[in-house]
Amino acid sequence: MINLLQIINKAKTEHTLSKEEIISILSCNNINEELFNAADEVRKKYVSDEVHLRGLIEFTNICKNNCLYCGLRRDNKNLVKYRLTQEQIFDFATKAKSFGYKTIVLQGGEDDYYTKDIMINIIKSIKSLGLALTLSIGEKTYEEYKAFREAGADRYLLRIETTDKKLYEYLDPGMSHETRLKCLKNLKELGYEVGSGVMVGLPNQTIESYADDILYFKEINADMLGIGPFIPNEDTPLAGSKGKELTMALKVMAITRLLLPDINIPATTAMESLNKNGRLMALQSGANVVMPNVTEGDYRKHYALYPGKICTGDTPAHCRGCITGKINSIGRTVSESYGFRGNKNTNN
Ligand code: 5AD
Ligand code: SF4
Ligand code: FES
Repeated sequence: MINLLQIINKAKTEHTLSKEEIISILSCNNINEELFNAADEVRKKYVSDEVHLRGLIEFTNICKNNCLYCGLRRDNKNLVKYRLTQEQIFDFATKAKSFGYKTIVLQGGEDDYYTKDIMINIIKSIKSLGLALTLSIGEKTYEEYKAFREAGADRYLLRIETTDKKLYEYLDPGMSHETRLKCLKNLKELGYEVGSGVMVGLPNQTIESYADDILYFKEINADMLGIGPFIPNEDTPLAGSKGKELTMALKVMAITRLLLPDINIPATTAMESLNKNGRLMALQSGANVVMPNVTEGDYRKHYALYPGKICTGDTPAHCRGCITGKINSIGRTVSESYGFRGNKNTNN
């Protein structure tokens, strides 16, 4: 245990750990408090007490892929499908701006209805509001990523989901791990701020594999990393899995903060879906970002990645007030800046 505390201390000052050291911390639950506190200190030192809010628009729940864990998978016939129009997306973004959001995250399934040209129009319209824009729309060609970047997209989220190639290719039938890695490389090369991340608690995922995930984050020097517990969804082939490993997800997140001290780390929605204080726990264990939903109406309910997803019956106005209250309740403040990595306050 003394030894583990030394490892945590080393990570706190040197921001590096070996695979064995990561495994030893993840394997022991007696040092969780110390780990979370260390991540909290590093978070405070490098990215301050400010929390960045990103307004999330879930613009289509239609997906051509068939990931075994995800409620939006192609074969899920129990989902009411929807697509937002360009006008609706612009309207939600405009309202998000009026609530003080500085960033819009456009997230959706891999839906080919939104062609390159349609996406370019949507990107340009949101950028005309003077907001930072993050895209989270899956695997695209280099040319498409380039066109979106040129249209003004600032950031891109593409979780690697797991760095275990075999597990990935089992869970994401028809998808290739190499393509995923290549997409992340392309995004970095094109000058996006790149976000990735993993789920924790997938069937057959191991502590070794979490260690590989963390080392991969460090290797690609991701600018943002979202880590969420896997929550089994009844309408998927993984209905009977266990999942719900909130503590392990928090630990993977905390070590990620220790090793990548200046990046943006969201307190994920999946964490709060497992515990009513999940996001606050995350914000006190290394996270510095929250992504409240700014989609209106019933769409939230239909964006059913997993059961128990929070905020499905709430309005954007309610969530904005709710999250500000929560953030303030732990002595933190909502940032007024765009929240790029390294505190660049530009929005280009
Ligand atoms: N539980 C938790 N997270 C999930 N995601 C998809 N399905 C689930 C689930 N059942 C995550 C994936 C995806 C992100 C948008 O949601 O990591 O990248
Ligand atoms: Fe589609 Fe993403 Fe869900 Fe996979 S995880 S089915 S790519 S929305
Ligand atoms: Fe949506 Fe709290 S953030 S209800």
